[in-house]
Amino acid sequence: MKIFTIFAFAVLSILLVSNTSKVTPFVSAQDGKKPPEVITLGTDAKLGSIKFNHLDHITKNRSVDGTKPIACVECHHTAQPASEAVKHPPHKTVWPADRTTTLTMELLEKDPTAVGAICRDCHARADTKPKLLPEIPQVKFEGSAEPTIMTNQQAFHRKCGSCHDEVVKARPDLTPPPPTSKKCMACHKKTAA
Ligand code: HEC
Ligand code: HEC
Ligand code: HEC
Ligand code: HEC
Repeated sequence: MKIFTIFAFAVLSILLVSNTSKVTPFVSAQDGKKPPEVITLGTDAKLGSIKFNHLDHITKNRSVDGTKPIACVECHHTAQPASEAVKHPPHKTVWPADRTTTLTMELLEKDPTAVGAICRDCHARADTKPKLLPEIPQVKFEGSAEPTIMTNQQAFHRKCGSCHDEVVKARPDLTPPPPTSKKCMACHKKTAA
């Protein structure tokens, strides 16, 4: 009876020890910041929120012609030096204004603040004041008489919808096709959370 107890205790100790030694290697320190994987946008949109797979948009070949990934600064247009931004009119604004770095996956690992600012810090909802700018930016697009107030709706629709429209033109056989500008409910979902 006593021998059995000691034996059982010994087995238990071995189990415990081998267990902890198995766990330890998985506890590794990770310093670098990784880009978010899935982001829920438009949680206050009446039509419903949008589930945006950030990871797929940066790791898969989602350029218009489908041959390469989308560069970070194509969306995060203020996350580069001003001298680079001005090469893509109408862009000129960067954040912070004196930045010298261009957002990449590697930069983010070294500098967790590399994004600088997020879209809605500047492209606020209609009739609200943006966090970072005195007012919502305005852009005069070719062919329109009046400047467009770049609200969150305008900024996201122009950035996201126009690429999808171009993708469908360039690659009509892509199935399923990305949600084009007119397909409101392919992006906005009432139930998504
Ligand atoms: C490619 C995806 C996509 C498509 C297609 C799309 N939207 Fe949006 N929409 C968005 C995103 C992203 C936002 C901004 C969400 C945010 O501010 O976080 C937005 C914002 C909006 C807003 C502003 C919401 C608010 O109050 O802040 C309205 C209104 C809207 N969309 C209506 C529409 C309508 C109408 C259509 C169809 C003609 C449409 N959307 C098609 C992605 C899409
Ligand atoms: C620090 C403020 C700021 C941030 C952050 C920002 N923008 Fe902008 N955006 C602007 C300003 C200002 C303009 C007008 C042009 C300029 O001054 O660069 C603009 C212009 C635009 C335009 C119109 C020009 C074009 O390329 O068609 C789009 C679309 C746009 N932004 C989308 C976005 C999206 C999407 C994000 C987030 C991924 C974002 N912006 C983040 C300030 C900002
Ligand atoms: C197709 C457009 C798009 C591309 C390409 C893109 N992003 Fe984003 N990213 C977004 C949007 C939209 C958000 C949501 C926050 C916002 O409103 O700006 C975001 C958010 C982020 C955030 C979180 C910011 C915060 O403080 O909440 C990080 C970090 C980030 N992106 C890094 C990257 C990096 C690094 C790359 C390139 C490897 C990249 N992104 C490419 C659209 C994009
Ligand atoms: C430069 C091009 C480009 C930009 C900018 C872009 N997308 Fe896409 N998106 C794609 C492509 C390409 C696909 C389809 C990929 C496939 O089916 O192989 C896609 C697919 C999608 C889908 C379908 C589900 C999925 O992820 O497969 C959603 C939703 C979507 N995009 C939302 C957005 C939103 C919201 C933005 C803006 C913040 C955005 N996209 C910006 C190229 C782009």
